[in-house]
Amino acid sequence: MATTVDTPKRSRRARAADVLDERLGLKALQYPVPEHANNLGWSLGGLTAAALFILIATGIFLTQFYNPTPEVANASVRQIVTGVWAGRFIRGVHYWTAQAMYILAALHLLRVFFTGSYKRPREANWLIGVSMFALVIGALFTGTVLKWDQEGFEALAHNLEIARLFGGAGFWFDPKLAANVPLLERLTVAHIAIIPGLILGLFAIHGMLIKRHGISPSPTVPDEPGEVREPFTHHLRRIGAFALILLAAVGVLAVVRPPGVGATPIEGIEITKPLWMFWWMFTLENKIGLKGILYGSGALFALLIAVPFVDRNPQRWWRKRPVAVALGLLVLTAIVVLTIMEALTTPASHLG
Ligand code: HEM
Repeated sequence: MATTVDTPKRSRRARAADVLDERLGLKALQYPVPEHANNLGWSLGGLTAAALFILIATGIFLTQFYNPTPEVANASVRQIVTGVWAGRFIRGVHYWTAQAMYILAALHLLRVFFTGSYKRPREANWLIGVSMFALVIGALFTGTVLKWDQEGFEALAHNLEIARLFGGAGFWFDPKLAANVPLLERLTVAHIAIIPGLILGLFAIHGMLIKRHGISPSPTVPDEPGEVREPFTHHLRRIGAFALILLAAVGVLAVVRPPGVGATPIEGIEITKPLWMFWWMFTLENKIGLKGILYGSGALFALLIAVPFVDRNPQRWWRKRPVAVALGLLVLTAIVVLTIMEALTTPASHLG
């Protein structure tokens, strides 16, 4: 007589998950994440990544209609805004998400700094983060130039002068490097391929190191053995919810405050201000000339790179790191004050 074996009934969804896991190893994503990392502060890196993906998606759309030939670049941006279906909206989402990404990356950096999360064994990942932050600034700068209006043109003019201060090391910005390819076209390639490609490559290493080291312990309850843990997929779900709020916010801004595009540029005048995240450097330029931009940004990045080498104090709680925390606050305050000073100033001429 044949016997029947009772097998527990599994839902279609669970079986589909097994089929996918066997091929793609997706269940590896369910590794445990400690409870203290499940809040907004510890999700800022994930949100920065979400902003990056929104920028890539909207950037691919814009690239279909943008023409980097200097004679028509400005007109092609106008065409995106006035003649392409949803062009004004997508451009607005790209513009506001770029600024959101800068803010999120800066807040993530501050979270990592003030919770001492860059300390051993995460020093290399801090340096990878600093490199990504520099690339985010590079993407913002090249993005400003692409619209090829007065603001973009003046930003590039500043950049060319600074490259000259570097002598031979600024060769990439020399129009003679590729006589048959306008600099604007090379900047476009940097903006749409080189910089995002580098960010994505570094992000892959950043993520692998986070997985390898695990998320850093809470500064107040270090290595708490009894701390509740959740699968990483739950953490991802929470980041997804925050990302939807981010998308809604940039969507509203794109409708309510769409970015403008000025007229084609006039050479030899300085009448615009750059995007606000560059303002602190421009106050330094107003005070000590073009070298101020170089010294200011050089000093900031030198300090950021030095952080894990200089701060050898193993403590993570801010109260037990008074020198590092005071220095961090000092640099932050200086940047905020210099930014406000530029907000209150009218643009002045600096270039020869
Ligand atoms: C610009 C793009 C960046 C992306 C997409 C990114 C993404 C992430 C993500 C998803 C995490 C996991 C924990 C969290 O979300 O807080 C993380 C952790 C970390 N990030 Fe970033 N990050 C970026 C920039 C930076 C910067 C600018 C720094 C510092 C200079 C940095 C340093 C670190 C360190 C040291 C960790 C490990 C911290 C821990 O375990 O608590 N990252 N990053």
